[in-house]
Amino acid sequence: MAGKIPRDFIDDLLARTDVVDIVDSRVKLKKAGKNYQACCPFHNEKSPSFTVSQEKQFYHCFGCGAHGNAISFLMEFDRLEFVEAIEELARYHSLEVPREKGSRPAMSEAKKQQQDDDYALMEQVARYFRQQLRSHANSARAIDYLKNRGLSGDVVKSWEIGYAPSEWDGVLSTFGTSAQRIQTLLDLKLVNQNDRGKQYDFFRDRIMFPIRDRRGRVVGFGGRVLDKDSGPKYLNSPETRIFHKGHELFGFHQARQRNRQLDRVIIVEGYMDVVALSQFDINNATAALGTATTPEHLQLLMRSTSHIVCCYDGDNAGRQAAWRALENALPALKDGVKLTFLFLPDGEDPDTMVRRVGPESFIQLTDKALPLSRFFFESLLKAHEVGTPEGKMALKAAAQPLIDQVLGDNQKALLQEELAKHCGEYDRFKLQQDIQQANSRGKKPQKQAWQPVQKTRMSPVRTLLRLLLDNPALASQYPDVMPAMLKGSGISGIDLLTDIHGYCQQYSGAKTAQVIENFRDHPHSQHIAKLLLQEHLISEEDAGRVYADSFARLLDWHFDSRIETLLSRSRVQALTRAEKEELNMLMKERQSG
Ligand code: UTP
Ligand code: MN
Repeated sequence: MAGKIPRDFIDDLLARTDVVDIVDSRVKLKKAGKNYQACCPFHNEKSPSFTVSQEKQFYHCFGCGAHGNAISFLMEFDRLEFVEAIEELARYHSLEVPREKGSRPAMSEAKKQQQDDDYALMEQVARYFRQQLRSHANSARAIDYLKNRGLSGDVVKSWEIGYAPSEWDGVLSTFGTSAQRIQTLLDLKLVNQNDRGKQYDFFRDRIMFPIRDRRGRVVGFGGRVLDKDSGPKYLNSPETRIFHKGHELFGFHQARQRNRQLDRVIIVEGYMDVVALSQFDINNATAALGTATTPEHLQLLMRSTSHIVCCYDGDNAGRQAAWRALENALPALKDGVKLTFLFLPDGEDPDTMVRRVGPESFIQLTDKALPLSRFFFESLLKAHEVGTPEGKMALKAAAQPLIDQVLGDNQKALLQEELAKHCGEYDRFKLQQDIQQANSRGKKPQKQAWQPVQKTRMSPVRTLLRLLLDNPALASQYPDVMPAMLKGSGISGIDLLTDIHGYCQQYSGAKTAQVIENFRDHPHSQHIAKLLLQEHLISEEDAGRVYADSFARLLDWHFDSRIETLLSRSRVQALTRAEKEELNMLMKERQSG
């Protein structure tokens, strides 16, 4: 165990650091009032709700809730452990990370050194393979191969494709300059050793694809034979201390670099598919490394995109691989993420397909990929005859445990509803929903035909507040909603509502982030935080209607109580002239309402 990093040092480090610099070097920030904003790097969005406050040295995403300081940002964005993030910050300020005495700090330093050496060596070997592609005696043959695969020089360069020499000791003799270096080559599986102790290059006479991790470090290689009869078509680096196949995706780093915003990511099966697609300017493809798509892969992708297209061969093996990917995806499937499945015609892969039909048609194919729910039920309905009660039960038995795993509530509800349809239980399913809705409406018949379905009952004031916070533009879209009319009425929460509404009206383009930021120091700011945490089931389309209706209810309620007040007052004393006028007006208002 390394010695603990002293608390003081961390505090000092944070005091020296400006979170804005740290974030801005990774995600371009724009100044917005006293804060900085960007589209959130932790979830997919079109308008920026990721806010960095220089004053608070704090970032917060109002879309996905991600928040924290410079350290947490590095942990999340660069996927670092806590200690690594501290070390990164320390490096940034050219500081040594001190360790408290007591344990053995030397170990971790050594390990850190080893890691740096590992990555540096991998990078050098990648460069060496690139050089060999130009300078080796077999260079012409290797380049011909790539040309025959239809790859341009630019694409070969941009993917850093190389050639592993045919000799047994290309890498070994170039990099194995000391016993320690040889050990590192063995550890990184660039060199093998047989039973008799003989050492030799792992990759020989192969086209080499360097695999970069999300942070851009070379962690492994894939190598393809140049002709059919030279052993397995692809060799991949085995697992090493820096390479974990289930976590890495070939081409994902490049996809992130080449797209400011990844609206969509296509998962394909092969290195060549990723490279060929980019030859046609499709730069959002990535490949799992000869393994099934793992939950880790999907989690990684879902942080950068909201639409993942899984692309497979149309044959049986492809369908099976797709089903495995689906099973792996369910526990990671968040609401708001679309997962679709594209099956190519028999005998095609993305490489051959894009060359045959062209990039536009290929993109159209990905547009029309099967939604997860379609693929899910199509597959299950193939296996189960739902024409019989037994078949329906079998379908349910197969589907239910899978549906139960789904992470997102909405995604889950959708599949559940579909399952009910297939099992002939849709009427019962609907009935149950209707009963639930009716119950939440309360017993009292209401004047309005429509009532919001509420999980937790919100007063009209709270509903108005919440809707405004979600969508500040409502204030200018519904000018008849004027909470200021009710200021001083004693209705609980009306003052906060009036203030927020006033702000939203004045700054009609304000985003939630700005409204909240503006009311951060408001005496009722904790109420705002609480409100934002509360779940409500008002859909986006209904928001405007609910907003207007809530205000109408509030007015009704207020007028009624005011009428009562004035009437009871009139019983004990004469009303003033103004009060009389008010009462008259209110009575008229009520009759017309
Ligand atoms: P494919 O055989 O579909 O690869 O294997 P490909 O990319 O279309 O290959 P080309 O077009 O013939 O060059 C898909 C992926 O499966 C893994 C590799 O990661 C490959 O990219 N694979 C395949 C292996 O690991 N070993 C193999 O022998 C074959
Ligand atoms: Mn292929």
